[in-house]
Amino acid sequence: VTKNPQQPEVNIGLVGHVDHGKTTLVQALSGSWTDQHSEEMKRGISIRLGYADATFRQIPGVDAPECYTVEEETEDGEETDVLRTVSFVDAPGHETLMATMLSGAAIMDGAILLVSATEDVPQAQTAEHLMALDIIGIENIVIAQNKVDLVDRERAVDNYEQIQEFVEGTVAEDAPIVPISAQQEVNLDLLIEAIEEEIPTPDRDETEDSQMYVARSFDINRPGTTWDGLAGGVIGGSVVAGKLEAGDELELRPGREVDEEGQTEWRSITTEIRSLQAGGNMVDEVRPGGLCGVGTGLDPSFTKGDALAGQVAGEPGTLPPTREQFTMDVELLDRVVGDEEGEGIDEISTGEPLMLTVGTATTVGAVTSARSGEAEVSLKRPVCAEEGAKIAINRRVGARWRLIGIGTLK
Ligand code: GTP
Repeated sequence: VTKNPQQPEVNIGLVGHVDHGKTTLVQALSGSWTDQHSEEMKRGISIRLGYADATFRQIPGVDAPECYTVEEETEDGEETDVLRTVSFVDAPGHETLMATMLSGAAIMDGAILLVSATEDVPQAQTAEHLMALDIIGIENIVIAQNKVDLVDRERAVDNYEQIQEFVEGTVAEDAPIVPISAQQEVNLDLLIEAIEEEIPTPDRDETEDSQMYVARSFDINRPGTTWDGLAGGVIGGSVVAGKLEAGDELELRPGREVDEEGQTEWRSITTEIRSLQAGGNMVDEVRPGGLCGVGTGLDPSFTKGDALAGQVAGEPGTLPPTREQFTMDVELLDRVVGDEEGEGIDEISTGEPLMLTVGTATTVGAVTSARSGEAEVSLKRPVCAEEGAKIAINRRVGARWRLIGIGTLK
């Protein structure tokens, strides 16, 4: 039995082409929880990474898959048992924001790839998102073939075969394909069963040093609050290792830029955890899974307007180093994602600007030295990152940043 069934224990990415039904599916799976997310701070975090929680349940004494549900009670009024609460990370569909997708991937334990049965496979973002899962190495995948209520049997089977062919040779090759209708709530039990089997909650070591990726930061005080009523700065994001406890000391890296006698330098910030919020509740501790809000003792002017987004927080003295420049191994894509007819990708050249995403941090870097398979960059804003960290590399093509490859920090 989960200690706090409302605190999600696993993060599941929800990816797929625009209009294929991500929002509808999340609503179908998390309907009864939505009011718990109306709270302002949590909503603020959710908008950035697109999070929603769902609690999977089981009807006692009923065989699988019919036993799986999200309802608290059966139609006969029988109470259902909680299996676990999961958190869905929604990848932006409208814009091709691969960087956000990839930074979200840093905290995904698995993914659902949603494919509409009404269109040919693959649509542009279906291909793009699967490639991102492939690159980041998200292996626990369930494919949901949605909108089967809109097609006849023959088209559904055709489409199913197209999906099989499309995922051949990718990380999703062995993923189960579950035909569903998110809108008509058809086969959701089968989908939950597949998620329970394919995307287990990872074993986590809570004695590990705590680490949190900061996705947002806020000043929650209303304008005009006087000093004696001021609440400390709030950071929001995901715990990725260990656990955070109220009362703990907390270090944030890279911290803030300090100007001393004309010299600027980034210094980490140390504060304390005054309050914790997860799954819509005030809690004493937070483990990986879902989003959390951390009330700190920081001056709210430090946290205002996402000023600390992209930073890493954890136990003082245990965080990865702050890097203003680094060298990375580079693996270029064959061509720009979603541009099937496009030409190959040119090698990275010395002097060119790149947009790099590391964890939840996105920063622009100038290439100071480029060799085949390797590049050295100097960053506009430093990042806190461990050796081996994955980096999404974007190059400016016309008016947009396009994903051109993946780096590994050396
Ligand atoms: P973006 O957030 O815009 O990327 O789209 P989305 O993937 O979240 O899709 P959304 O859930 O908004 O669904 C798009 C449209 O398809 C809506 O009009 C839904 O009502 C409809 N829809 C979603 N799932 C189903 C389904 O299973 N059957 C039918 N008939 N319609 C569906």
